[in-house]
Amino acid sequence: MALDLLQGICAAAQKAISALPRETAAQVLRKGASGDYTKIIDSTAEAAAVAYLEAAGFRGRLVSEELGERRFGAEDYPIVVLDPVDGTTNATRGISFYSISAAIADGRLLSDVYAGAVLELPAGRLFAAERGKGALLDGRTIRANGDEPIASALIGVDLNVMGNRAKFMEMAPLCITAKHVRNMGSAAIELCYVASGALALYADNRSKLRVTDIAAALLILREAGGVALDLSGNVLDCPLDLKQRVSLVAGSRGTCSEALSIIGSSSK
Ligand code: IPD
Ligand code: CA
Repeated sequence: MALDLLQGICAAAQKAISALPRETAAQVLRKGASGDYTKIIDSTAEAAAVAYLEAAGFRGRLVSEELGERRFGAEDYPIVVLDPVDGTTNATRGISFYSISAAIADGRLLSDVYAGAVLELPAGRLFAAERGKGALLDGRTIRANGDEPIASALIGVDLNVMGNRAKFMEMAPLCITAKHVRNMGSAAIELCYVASGALALYADNRSKLRVTDIAAALLILREAGGVALDLSGNVLDCPLDLKQRVSLVAGSRGTCSEALSIIGSSSK
């Protein structure tokens, strides 16, 4: 079963990184395939995932944040989409909020993902979904919230703009409108928190997220009844390719629409 494979990947990666001292984990090794620096924690988790896939006799392709693409046999599909550690900065500074994200797809697009798993660490909570079967947190069904006015909502916004003042200012009205705002540092978990109803919305306008960060969580969100839209209001989709960079709002349809109108008014 697909979810068993994804859970196996997450468990193998978790086990490998749990043994790493923090100072070792944080050492930079090289520039990874996605353009960010690969730290020892990232490559250790990825190597454990690759070893697990080999031992499980997986056939298909792996798209992973550090190594790029790797084939297991001649088959083009399925594609496993892996972020070995989402939230590396948190993980290497002792901030208890990072994850391992693994998805599997039977086609070339994000919308072809048919199973996804996000393991929240160090808590060890597993968010998971299979296409058409709903979304689960540690085996229990989760649902995204219905429409909720942003003025009374708890939302997540990625404000890590790295000097881009225009991007920051574009999000300011959304942050001012919301009742509570969080910026937590692992997009995969934050999207899963929208799926579980903990957050009413997650928004990132930076055009920095990669498919590896979001592939698993977006299926979990969709199966929980939520949507993810691009900043033009279309359902977010793109090739499962490490070169893609996306912005999004995620939540219920109505809450996403309100967020887009707030963000849109601020950019005019
Ligand atoms: C990062 C996290 C973070 C987001 C960054 C991502 P990484 O993933 O998802 O929340 O702000 O843009 O790069 O690099 O730790 O896999
Ligand atoms: Ca990563």
